[in-house]
Amino acid sequence: MPEAHEASIAVIGGTGLEDAFDSLDRRETVPTPYGPTSAPIALGMLGGRRVAFVPRHGAGHALPPSSVPARANLWALARLGVRAVVSSAAVGSLDSAFAPGSLAVPDQLLDRTHGRADSYFDAEPGIDSGPVRHLPFADPFCPVVRAAVCDGLPDAADGATVAVIPGPRFSTRAESRALRAAGADLVNMTLLPEVALAGELGIGSATVCVVTDMDAGAHAEDAELVSADIVYARFAEALPRVVAGIERAVAAIPPDYPGRTLLDDAARADVLARPARA
Ligand code: ADE
Repeated sequence: MPEAHEASIAVIGGTGLEDAFDSLDRRETVPTPYGPTSAPIALGMLGGRRVAFVPRHGAGHALPPSSVPARANLWALARLGVRAVVSSAAVGSLDSAFAPGSLAVPDQLLDRTHGRADSYFDAEPGIDSGPVRHLPFADPFCPVVRAAVCDGLPDAADGATVAVIPGPRFSTRAESRALRAAGADLVNMTLLPEVALAGELGIGSATVCVVTDMDAGAHAEDAELVSADIVYARFAEALPRVVAGIERAVAAIPPDYPGRTLLDDAARADVLARPARA
């Protein structure tokens, strides 16, 4: 099946952003070599552009962080023609400069996940993964897509380091302090391997982080401790700003944006030529 041109931009909606874009009302099930996507892909117009949408945690937020089928999601989006991803993520704060309720557009990631299927170029039974390829990942987010997200959300902090932990549990106080000491400002459970997989497929990505909580008190012993209820409630308060900002960000991506070539173009073509299974 040749690559389609259904959408050039995708939105990946994190916790709290499952169902926010009414105009994306066509649903498509895309079989992939990696099994089903988190949910059928929603397609339509947003910000004057052809956009695909995936709720990262599936319908009804059923998928825990380490079960998000990130390889299937990115493969399906690439197969639909996507070259840019704008995503949302709920994050905890490790630094008092990032207050709950504020927004940030990160520029760095710190990988604390383990055991996730995090590459299209790992040896895998039943899949010909071709020659080994090593993604240059010094700057994980695409500068062009980041600039569009910053334009769309002028109140968001421009730049932050997000540590990505396995979840689904939140951190201990010691882990929270250790992440901060390691240089992270924010903490989340899902931005990796998603951003790296996008890079392997020549898709540039950027994320709007919604700071929902102060994690386990890395920057103040008496801070309100994170809970899932706090995360959902704070994200719900920020939702209208995030939805409007993502629509502006999508509109601000240059129409001739070619994607981000961190590997050679053949790498994308090789991965997309892999046979899908139902
Ligand atoms: N997502 C939102 N808040 C979080 C936290 N404190 N830790 C990890 N992921 C989060």
